[in-house]
Amino acid sequence: MQTIVEHPLIRVHITALRAKETGADAFRNHLTAISRLLAFPALADLAIEPVRVVTPLTETEGGRLRAVPVLVPVLRAGLGMVEGFRDVIPDAIVSHLGMYRDHQTLLPVRYYSNFPKDCGTHPFIVLDPMLATGGSAVDAIDYLKSEGVRNIRVVAVIAAPEGMARVFETHPDVHVYAGVQDQRLNQQGYILPGLGDAGDRQFGTV
Ligand code: PRP
Ligand code: URA
Repeated sequence: MQTIVEHPLIRVHITALRAKETGADAFRNHLTAISRLLAFPALADLAIEPVRVVTPLTETEGGRLRAVPVLVPVLRAGLGMVEGFRDVIPDAIVSHLGMYRDHQTLLPVRYYSNFPKDCGTHPFIVLDPMLATGGSAVDAIDYLKSEGVRNIRVVAVIAAPEGMARVFETHPDVHVYAGVQDQRLNQQGYILPGLGDAGDRQFGTV
């Protein structure tokens, strides 16, 4: 399943991310704000279990998360989405996945991972602002599934139609949430109109 999250504030923040004059510090702030907004729809179906809670006046039924979510920021650019998600789920586990796209082949190269021992019960949320060819997202999902993870969703800020289609064809069980779907990829595999290289824009390595 695929959801483009329509929200006026997401549109405003993405416009700022796209602007080439937006510097690294402002870029990071806008990315955090978008991530916070994307977290609501992306986490709307988290399973909760009932719990009794005592108020100052009486007792009532509340809810708590059945399993702590695991955020999976794909390095480097996914790091910029962690803060926004942790604002709404402060006790989320954060499992980094190191991956870069080879500039010649455009194929993902995995170089780091750090995951909890028992992956089975947690919902996993892959965070990466750019879904371009979809190679990185598909490889991240392949890896999670090989570790026994079944409950996976992907959250991106900008998605290319090519990447959306690739994830859907390869992993139709994975729900992808994105802030916008752009027009297409250019010959170097960059999203148009896009925002350029999300890692470089965030960390000033342009
Ligand atoms: C970017 C982005 C994704 C990937 C998307 O990472 O953050 O991980 O490209 O492209 P794809 O959908 O075609 O795989 P990049 O390779 O630039 O690594 P970096 O964040 O370390 O710079
Ligand atoms: N990675 C990026 O950072 N930007 C793109 O447009 C495509 C892949």
